[in-house]
Amino acid sequence: MKVYLYIASSLNGCIARKDGSTNWSAEDNTSYLSFCRQIEAVVMGRNTYEEYLKLPDSDWPNPKGTTVVLSSKKILPVNNFQVHIANNGPKEAIEILQNLGKKELIVIGGNKTWTSFMKEGLGDEIILDVEPYIFGGGISLFSGSVFETNLELLERKFLSSQTVQLHYRIIK
Ligand SMILES: NC(=O)c1ccc[n+]([C@@H]2O[C@H](COP(=O)([O-])OP(=O)(O)OC[C@H]3O[C@@H](n4cnc5c(N)ncnc54)[C@H](OP(=O)(O)O)[C@@H]3O)[C@@H](O)[C@H]2O)c1
Repeated sequence: MKVYLYIASSLNGCIARKDGSTNWSAEDNTSYLSFCRQIEAVVMGRNTYEEYLKLPDSDWPNPKGTTVVLSSKKILPVNNFQVHIANNGPKEAIEILQNLGKKELIVIGGNKTWTSFMKEGLGDEIILDVEPYIFGGGISLFSGSVFETNLELLERKFLSSQTVQLHYRIIK
């Protein structure tokens, strides 16, 4: 299974303000949705899932695909899409999607979920959209765990005059 992490970040490595809010660019959103809809198999954490439940269905990342939500809860509120729950972390999420015949998946956050995948050495590539903000005291990417990873920069491009996309391979 090839595992992509798709992340939007401020210049100082924050994935949201302290209160969880963000206002990333339309170009980041377009690129993110097109990636999710191409891969169709998505993994997210319970907090990110609950944020999606407040949004219209048109914002759902992969309407025709399958999503696995990481959570210790056995039951979560449902929506109109195909959603599974993995109670035992990233490996179980991968297993669920593998059993459905998927060969690639995209981890769309948040912090605890990306950190879980990285800590277990389960990521293959990172796509990072760097947005022109600094969020002092914001929610940091990959916090709460000690690990180190070497990366190879595969590609960099401008999504707009203001947003840069960096695409890395995780060296194992
Ligand atoms: N910038 C971006 O690209 C981006 C993308 C997505 C989200 N975000 C932001 O990220 C923030 C949410 O991040 P977050 O770290 O609080 O939440 P999260 O990763 O979305 O969800 C965390 C929850 O997922 C479950 N979980 C995570 N790892 C697990 C594991 N190994 N095993 C079992 N369950 C696991 C746990 O659920 P239980 O508590 O149910 O056990 C945990 O409390 C929001 O502010 C959102 O706006 C930013």
